[in-house]
Order: sequence, then structure tokens, then C-alpha cells
Amino acid sequence: MGITVSPSILSADLTDLKNEIKRIELSGADRIHFDVMDGIFVDNISFGIPVLKCLSKITDMFIDVHLMIKDPLKYIGAFVEAGADMITFHAESDSDIKLTIDKIHSMGIKAGLTVKPATPVDIILEYLPYLQNALVMSVEPGFGGQGFIASTMEKVTILKEAIIANGYDCIVQVDGGINGLTARTAIEAGADDIVSGTYLFKSEDMAKTVNEIKSIKQ
Ligand code: DX5
Ligand code: ZN
Repeated sequence: MGITVSPSILSADLTDLKNEIKRIELSGADRIHFDVMDGIFVDNISFGIPVLKCLSKITDMFIDVHLMIKDPLKYIGAFVEAGADMITFHAESDSDIKLTIDKIHSMGIKAGLTVKPATPVDIILEYLPYLQNALVMSVEPGFGGQGFIASTMEKVTILKEAIIANGYDCIVQVDGGINGLTARTAIEAGADDIVSGTYLFKSEDMAKTVNEIKSIKQ
């Protein structure tokens, strides 16, 4: 399968969400990345269930929800009902990891697990047989527009190798600080899906930028 691209609407013009979604749909991107921050797990507050509900009504695109919240297990049901197609949560959160994965699957959607840049990848490796998405954070979660932490790419390669060796049906996603150069670094390390906020929404021609990322060889 080729490289996929997931625009993060954290960087979209939220006063004009309908048109921003149109722009994503027309760009050839694969998923909409929806960043949820609770002001406790990370030092920022973004948007949540009511916005997701509105968003899922105006698009048929796959919605990839990234929960940066203290207790993801508590909110899985609500996010799935609001329209999530995949939920990725943090291993550093307070929720039991296996219970949370099982809850996501019981609601009929895909599950992902992620770690902050300073957290070892081992915890994702442990749950890899149950995951459809292994997300490597290449910035400290909480804000768009930060610099790419290249040392996190080691985790991408380790995860990708484990997935191939075991034949797991799981993608490796990279999120944070993506631009033309760092997208290449991430894909060469083994990333399957590239999440991007600032770079995609600031680009004059989103379709061209998406296409450029998708043409990078793994
Ligand atoms: C960071 C978020 C990212 C963010 C990426 O906490 O998880 O998805 O929107 O934004 P850029 O691409 O600007 O680093
Ligand atoms: Zn994200």
C-alpha cells in the first residue's frame, strides 16, 4: 500500500470548517486527523465531541481521532457515537491500555496507541498484535507548528520491522513537525501515514503538497 496523508484540522480555519473539509476532500488526502486535548494530559485545550458530531455529518471521509486526554476509556463510547472511525490514545494516559483497546474494538472501529517523544516504544510493541495504528509522536503533543524531533524516527523503524516480521495488519503513523523534508525522513524510516497540520493548511495548493508527500518512496 502507498503512503497515506492525514491533515490535522487543528491548523484549519475553524470559522470556515465546511470549506476546509472540502479542501481536504479535494486534495486527495486519505483521512481527517482530529486532535482532542483536555488541558490536563497536555497544556492545551482544542475541541471535542460536539465538533466531531458536526464534522462527521458533513463528510464521508475517514475520521482519525487522536485523544490527548487523561482518561480516554471514559470517552470512547461518546467519540464513536459522534463519528470516529479510529481512535488513537496515549500509553501515558491513566486508562488501562488493553481495556481501552478492547472498548474501541467493541464499538466496531479501529484502535491506535501512541507515545510521547520521551516514552520508549516498548509499550506500543507490547500491544502491537491488537492495534491497527501505531502512532509515533515526532513533537511533544499539545500544539501544532513545532519542530520535528528526528530521534523519534528510531521508533518508527522498530515498529515497522516488528509489523512486517509478524505480519500484523497495522500502520505506522507519524505526527508533528512535518514538512517536505521531514516527511521524507519519516517515510524513509518506515512511516505509512503522515499527519500534518501547519504545512498542509499553509500550503497554497494542498492537493499538490499531499501528492508530493504521497510520491515519496518508503
Ligand atoms: C500535536 C498534534 C498534531 C498537530 C500537528 O499535539 O497531535 O496532530 O496538529 O501539527 P503540525 O503538523 O503543525 O506539527
Ligand atoms: Zn495529532
